[in-house]
Amino acid sequence: MSADEVFRGGVAVVTGAGSGIGEGIARRAAALGMKLVLADIASDRIEAVAADIRAQGGEALPVQTDVSDSSALDRLADAAYDAYGEVTLLVNNAGIEMLGHVWEIPAATWDKALTINVLGVIHSVRAFAPRMLAAGKQAWIANLGSIGSFGMMPVQTPYIVSKHAVLSFSECLALEMELIGAPITVSCVLPGPVATRIFTDAPAGNNPSTVDKHRAIMAGMLKDHGLTPLQAGEIILDGIARGDFWVPTHPEMAEQAAAARAAYLTGEHRPKLAEEARAILA
Ligand SMILES: NC(=O)c1ccc[n+]([C@@H]2O[C@H](COP(=O)([O-])OP(=O)(O)OC[C@H]3O[C@@H](n4cnc5c(N)ncnc54)[C@H](O)[C@@H]3O)[C@@H](O)[C@H]2O)c1
Repeated sequence: MSADEVFRGGVAVVTGAGSGIGEGIARRAAALGMKLVLADIASDRIEAVAADIRAQGGEALPVQTDVSDSSALDRLADAAYDAYGEVTLLVNNAGIEMLGHVWEIPAATWDKALTINVLGVIHSVRAFAPRMLAAGKQAWIANLGSIGSFGMMPVQTPYIVSKHAVLSFSECLALEMELIGAPITVSCVLPGPVATRIFTDAPAGNNPSTVDKHRAIMAGMLKDHGLTPLQAGEIILDGIARGDFWVPTHPEMAEQAAAARAAYLTGEHRPKLAEEARAILA
């Protein structure tokens, strides 16, 4: 079924909706006639997105939320159900990049990456799923992994660790929904490059010279070769509506990454620096 048939008239909650892919998903969902609950730590950004959606005749509620605070996610669920009732689609999108050698990233910075990227997804599902299950209706949960969920990338280790975790969390969540016969479809979204602020904003370890070139190359690559957030939002909502578990924005790239991962695992190879990674890091 098309995203329009599946989602029109429903309620969507999107974390990290103030920028980039989350904003693209939110704007696309609003264009499909969904009511939007926009969550982000940056309240000015979600207020601006909400104002735009309302100006175009849509409905949107901005709720400032730090996804690294589990109680804030409980409050987000309360706000969403109070405002619009049953949630049709929950998109756990908020996430950050992080740059630096493993040993150069301070403890608190490591904790920040893993808390936002992993626990933020887990506690959002914990906060929303009971009410989604109690409604007993078809609903969707989509978690943002990455093409990096299949791969390895030195100097982005906290990010890669977190995205592998989001994929395995989503897989187990899908199985738990199957186990209890719940009408909730779980997807893991696997974006390739999308032109957002993620690398520009990424916190770095305590040796900035390790990351300067890496940050500039990655930010430039997203800017020059990435999809726009709106394009990504459309592709992602189409994939979720089809009921796909894997929702890549760049299917060929995802297929290649999955094939490379499969060959690496079945061959029990040692980790080896890819030539593209060497070029970025040299
Ligand atoms: N851009 C890409 O190429 C790409 C590729 C693969 C995966 N992703 C994933 O897509 C998701 C969105 O990334 P993006 O590129 O749109 O980034 P972005 O930086 O443009 O947007 C992320 C949003 O999340 C918000 N945010 C950050 N910390 C938060 C917190 N603690 N609580 C609530 N909100 C918070 C930010 O304020 C921002 O508005 C992330 O999970 C990212 O890992 C992005």
